[in-house]
Amino acid sequence: MKGLILSGGSGSRLYPATRSVNKQLLPIFDKPMIYYPISVLMLAGIRDILMITRPEDESLYRHLLGDGQQFGLTISYIHQPAPNGLAEAFILGESFLVGEPSALILGDNLFYGHGLADKLQDAAKLQDGATIFPYYVKDPSQYGVVEFNADGRVIGIEEKPALPKSHYAVPGLYFFDGQASTLASEITPSARGELEITDLINKYIARGKLHAHKLGRGYAWLDTGTHDNLLNASLFVRTVEERQGLKIGCLEEIALRMGFIDIEQFEKAILFYKNSAYGDYLREVFNLEKLS
Ligand code: DAU
Repeated sequence: MKGLILSGGSGSRLYPATRSVNKQLLPIFDKPMIYYPISVLMLAGIRDILMITRPEDESLYRHLLGDGQQFGLTISYIHQPAPNGLAEAFILGESFLVGEPSALILGDNLFYGHGLADKLQDAAKLQDGATIFPYYVKDPSQYGVVEFNADGRVIGIEEKPALPKSHYAVPGLYFFDGQASTLASEITPSARGELEITDLINKYIARGKLHAHKLGRGYAWLDTGTHDNLLNASLFVRTVEERQGLKIGCLEEIALRMGFIDIEQFEKAILFYKNSAYGDYLREVFNLEKLS
């Protein structure tokens, strides 16, 4: 299974905060936003990742993430010249995917909860069909929204409906089989001029091949599309991290625990970050690991 991260978009809803910095590079409390979706792919066991960025942002992402080897990943880059829609990821990523199954995550989505890694690793076994993770929200109208039939089966997804057919939004994390690029190339732009991910998912529904695994209320799914959401996400991360003394989305820690890097490689990160609280945290993880 390969991973795609969409990290483009104009970010215009957050102007002027995002006029000169791509949204997904803004901090969520103590680390760049993009760390959180990368951590989700890592927890799913995915190590081969394509970052899809605006042409002007690639160098910034490379500066931050390089080729991913410090996290035991292989990160490659491709440009999305204009925000033509989420489903375009599978067209741009076609030669990267070469017909393999993949997980797509949006660069501005944050997931947290007990058992998330198991859920993700189960989803990553997918060979046939597509998987989404419907999540109950108070106001679903700003999202892709699921329609269920009386038996609880998903019968359709609507993008930002004025009259949502349920309270279940579709978070920006999707698993697809190897057909995604072919099916995405059959989609035409919507009224707002985008290749909609909902249209791609609806193709899987039409084939009877959509799996929907609800994320229960014990999970947090946050996105960062507005200034309020951005601040709320930072406060959420700070609250959990301060209470537990454990970080959310610490890529080096996840890489170590997943066996993607060894302890020597981990020590290099401690040295690199030695003058920061992040470095202090890595040292604590190191000491605990040595004791165990
Ligand atoms: O957050 C989940 C929602 O994300 C889903 O429920 C919706 O079905 C889906 O369309 C999307 O809605 P948004 O309104 O949040 O999409 P937005 O245009 O804000 O883009 C989401 C992220 O993807 C953002 O980080 C920018 C990036 N993006 C977006 C587009 C349209 C790209 O990199 N390229 C694009 O072409």
